[in-house]
Amino acid sequence: MDLKKAIETLPEKGYLDIPVPGNIDLVKEINRLRKEKNAVILAHYYQVPEIQDIADYVGDSLGLAQAAAKTEADIILFAGVHFMAETAKILNPDKKVLLPDLLAGCSLAESAPADKFEAFKKQHPGYVVVSYVNTSAAIKALTDIVCTSSNAEKIINSIPEDKKIIFAPDKNLGAYLIKKTGREMVLWDGVCEVHEQFSLEKILKLKEAHPDAKIIAHPESRDYILNIADYIGSTSGLLKFVQESDAKEFIIATESGILHKMAQVAPDKVLIPAPPEDDDNSCACTECPYMKRNTLEKIYLALKYELPEVNVEEELRKKALVSIERMLELS
Ligand code: 13P
Ligand code: SF4
Repeated sequence: MDLKKAIETLPEKGYLDIPVPGNIDLVKEINRLRKEKNAVILAHYYQVPEIQDIADYVGDSLGLAQAAAKTEADIILFAGVHFMAETAKILNPDKKVLLPDLLAGCSLAESAPADKFEAFKKQHPGYVVVSYVNTSAAIKALTDIVCTSSNAEKIINSIPEDKKIIFAPDKNLGAYLIKKTGREMVLWDGVCEVHEQFSLEKILKLKEAHPDAKIIAHPESRDYILNIADYIGSTSGLLKFVQESDAKEFIIATESGILHKMAQVAPDKVLIPAPPEDDDNSCACTECPYMKRNTLEKIYLALKYELPEVNVEEELRKKALVSIERMLELS
């Protein structure tokens, strides 16, 4: 398929469908292109190992937003999902932001369409709107302060006691924050389809087989998983816990991509991914189908042709920027 045809089918396929010759050394070519074009590769911990290993920076949602805010590169290649690349573009209107596959979405971002959210906001006049970074630019434009799982507690605590709060879109994270902060919050009804899947029964069975293992969970997980967790934290929090804990074994309730970095920073630890209810996959772990759409081939093509690009209309960008900058100031 030629470039013109690949560009035509881009909206439907999400990526440039151009065959990559089998004899090409992808890592070498990606390195050449990023140097030639002054591009930086930012990757989330949920990316496949080979992508994490070539990234200039690997991090959680907050770390990635901070890295995007301070990069001096001309091109940001975002190995993550759409809302992350969009956040990078909002922070860098003059840089080119590439997402290797535009269909790398997020069930949380999808759960909050702007028209419905605007109507919900109108039903709660005077409420401070705190939105998880996993939202579209349109939701960020309707938001007072953005947060991530790393800073959510701090951000909620920064809001004056007499203010009522809407928290969107993750109801599991929202319920966890109500418990942690003691603040009453109105929650939007969204979930992460990946963290929803963990099986309590299977985790408890693993714990029986590994009685000394620490159960650690991301706060996007359901309350019955969080209730049995020894530690709850963002991806970077979980990574730090594994690295610093005296424990030798861990049952990890988050997307399994993080195990790659955990094994690198704590090679002597036993890392057991928490299984989903329905584990018909071979790894008995939980993978985000959106994060896993990115591949080295798609990164190579995106850098070579500087497509697909993520753009945000200027008026919307300026509105969305305010709530992101408030988060960065408070972090
Ligand atoms: P953090 O990287 O903030 O922990 O979020 C996890 C996640 O689900 C990102 O999509
Ligand atoms: Fe969205 Fe969940 Fe995938 Fe993160 S892991 S991108 S929250 S669906």
